[in-house]
Parts: sequence; C-alpha cells; structure tokens
Amino acid sequence: MRWSSIFWSVALFTLVVAQDTSLQAVKKAFDDAHIPGNLAITFNPKVLLEVTFPEPGKLPITLHAGVHLPRNSTAGPPAFSVIGTKSKGPFVVAAVDPDAPTPQTPTSAQIRHFLGGNFSARQIWRASTPLLTNSTPAVTEFHQPTPPAGSDAHRYVFLIFEQPAGFNAQTFVAPTTSISLFNISQFASEVGLGAPIGGTFMLVAPDPPAA
Ligand SMILES: *[C@@H]1O[C@H](CO)[C@@H](O)[C@H](O)[C@H]1NC(C)=O
Ligand SMILES: *[C@@H]1O[C@H](CO)[C@@H](O)[C@H](O)[C@H]1NC(C)=O
Ligand SMILES: *[C@@H]1O[C@H](CO)[C@@H](O)[C@H](O)[C@H]1NC(C)=O
Repeated sequence: MRWSSIFWSVALFTLVVAQDTSLQAVKKAFDDAHIPGNLAITFNPKVLLEVTFPEPGKLPITLHAGVHLPRNSTAGPPAFSVIGTKSKGPFVVAAVDPDAPTPQTPTSAQIRHFLGGNFSARQIWRASTPLLTNSTPAVTEFHQPTPPAGSDAHRYVFLIFEQPAGFNAQTFVAPTTSISLFNISQFASEVGLGAPIGGTFMLVAPDPPAA
C-alpha cells in the first residue's frame, strides 16, 4: 500500500467516524429532549443539518443540537447547509416551536417558524459544506423566536426532508396560513414528506427583564 493511500484511508475513516458520532449525538439530543414523541415524528437522522445565524459585527453561530441561545442572537434569517448526502435535492426545511406559549401548556403549538421547499445543495468551493439555497421564496419566511415573559425556554426544532414530487402543488399551507396550531407530523403525512432525514434544535428563553 502506498503511503498516500494509507493517508486517505485514515482520513476517510476519521471523517466517517466523526460524522457517525455526530449523527448519534444529534439523535440522542432529540431523544433526551422528547422531540420525536412531542412532534409525533420518527427521527433517525442520516444527514447533519447545519443551521447558522448571522450575528451583526460578530462571527455567525452554528447550532449544536440542544444549544441555548440568547433571543437576540436568533434574529436570522438562518442559513442552512447539509452534510452527508450525495443528493443535490430538492429538500424541504421546516422549523417549529412545540412549546408555545409555554412548554407546560402548549395550547398554540406548534408555531411554524419556517417552511420552505426547493432547497438544493451547492458547494461554494470544492470540499466545502454544501450550502442549501432555495430557488423560490419560502412558504413561511423565518420568524424570530419570541417566547413570552415568564415562560421557560422553548425548543425550536429545524428539520430537513427530501422533497417529494408534487410538493409544489400542496395547498395545506400557504403564505397566508396562520403559523399557530401547526402540526409538522400531520403536514408531513398530508404532503408525503415521510420522516425527516436530519435536524437540529436550539433552546431560547424570553429576553431578561429590562434593567
Ligand atoms: C444580547 O443581549 C446580551 C445581554 O442580554 C448582550 O450582552 C449581548 O451583547 C446582546 N447581543 C446582541 C447581538 O445584541
Ligand atoms: C418550487 O419552484 C417551483 C417553480 O420553480 C414553484 O412553482 C414552486 O412554488 C416552488 N415551491 C416551493 C415550495 O417553494
Ligand atoms: C399531530 O398529528 C399527528 C398525526 O400525524 C397526531 O398523532 C398528533 O397527536 C398531532 N399533534 C397535535 C399536537 O395535535
């Protein structure tokens, strides 16, 4: 075996192991936070969904599943990228809050914080993480988290699905459809999204009281 092929074997192995561990970490974080049960979804991630928030005057923040972020870091709109797929798409990305107005009494949940289709994976430069870009406006543009004063932190869950043929003709959600009382599981079965192929989530608490 030539040195270079040994090098590449080791490099590839390391990459695959790191990725497996991360997928498992994401799945564990979802399970520990009771997200699959609360959203009535099956969650066995095959890809890593990276969600990155721009921060004015600072480095952007990429979520790790379960990270706590101050509300003022989540203005967005976030950028999405996907690791671990050969598919170029199209994909559907959705973000929901199952904890509105409070995790204890989520009577207006889920809130649909984002819903967009026609995302395709594009590498900006060779070997970079494929960025997801959408060719058309989202059905529901990103809404910044606004957990009400006094509430515990809410979970904001981002999911990526393979976009099924016919998704563009769906009429269950339009830009004018209320973002409250959404049900991602029901929507997924109505439009044939199947189970999500990846996801991540953040926890955001209400703004601290003004001093
Ligand atoms: C967010 O608020 C905290 C204090 O509550 C402050 O330290 C921080 O600079 C703020 N960040 C931004 C991006 O405004
Ligand atoms: C996807 O793109 C097609 C045409 O390019 C458009 O008609 C359709 O509304 C888009 N779908 C979504 C979910 O944005
Ligand atoms: C959402 O829909 C699923 C069926 O897809 C159902 O099992 C679940 O109870 C619904 N969730 C809520 C909060 O109504």
